[in-house]
Amino acid sequence: MSARTSLIVDVDTGIDDSLALLYLLARDDAEIVAVLSTAGNVPTSQVAQNNLAWLELCGRTDIEVAVGAAGPLSTPLRTTEDTHGPQGIGYAILPAPTHRPSDRTATQAWIDLTRERPGELVGLVTGPLTNLALAVRADPALPARLRRLVIMGGAFHHPGNTTPVAEWNISVDPEAAAEVFAAFSEVPADRTPIVCGLDVTERIVLRPEHLRRIAELSGSTPVETIRTEDAPSTRSATSNPVVRHLSDAVRFYFEFHRDHGQGFIAHMHDPFVAAVALDPDVAQYRSATVDVETEGRITRGQTVADWFGLWGRPPNARVALDTDPDAFLDDLVDRVATFARTVDRAVKGSGPEA
Ligand code: BDR
Ligand code: CA
Repeated sequence: MSARTSLIVDVDTGIDDSLALLYLLARDDAEIVAVLSTAGNVPTSQVAQNNLAWLELCGRTDIEVAVGAAGPLSTPLRTTEDTHGPQGIGYAILPAPTHRPSDRTATQAWIDLTRERPGELVGLVTGPLTNLALAVRADPALPARLRRLVIMGGAFHHPGNTTPVAEWNISVDPEAAAEVFAAFSEVPADRTPIVCGLDVTERIVLRPEHLRRIAELSGSTPVETIRTEDAPSTRSATSNPVVRHLSDAVRFYFEFHRDHGQGFIAHMHDPFVAAVALDPDVAQYRSATVDVETEGRITRGQTVADWFGLWGRPPNARVALDTDPDAFLDDLVDRVATFARTVDRAVKGSGPEA
């Protein structure tokens, strides 16, 4: 088996999903086999457009983008443009992509790709679990064919970010999440899904100085600092296209967090979970049996973890409870900066660096 980790990435791009994609593209130990688009932060067609646009900006039109289900399994879609901007990418206006999504659905891609490469692929889901739930309904043997499943979702010893107890990705489609956790109860104990909830992902606190460091290290000029006192929707004028669009996207996320009393920061949930997908050792876990409340009047979408086997059901998840946020953020800054510099040089036709 290759030293690279091959991934199916299912996203609802999304500002932090965008940075997760850039981070994965930056890692030469990652092979992105396909980017699947799920409805969540914005509608699925917009998610697909965002995925295509980021990949094209980075010169990676070779990667398949598939469109997923239009909405959750059994409820209308809620989107969150207030968090991620009118198109899901904050203030960024990416060049319109010239390539198109593939002909197969995201659900079909989950099924086909895991059949083509059984036991090889890591599934990374940083949006609602709708596409994967549909795939498992159609093909119940799918969980056994994945090498590993890593999910951004849930809140365990932590308040929710969508309701007092529910995290966004699970809250959008609780039925899908419940079906996925149930379906993956059957996989061998050493392959139970990894679940990264807000307990760890809200510790991944990106600040303006991180973006400044990315600009500096990438050689982008001028090096800018995003400030809370800037006029809203100020756009970056820095030279590197990846840094410029990333800055425009993340500025919106800083403003959202500030306007919700969390400071001029952004929780970078999805990039961290992308790192976990490549190397689970960057977090510490506790095994539990996880289920999702789908009916509660005020608890719908809550992830409930049975840590002590009280339900008499075997563990079906490794719940991430600790990590070293600074180590991850340093890695993110270094890799994305290096990648941005490489993309810029390729665009300018100056070839790879010596
Ligand atoms: C999750 O919700 C989305 O808005 C983010 O992209 C992330 O995947 C955090 O709750
Ligand atoms: Ca997301």
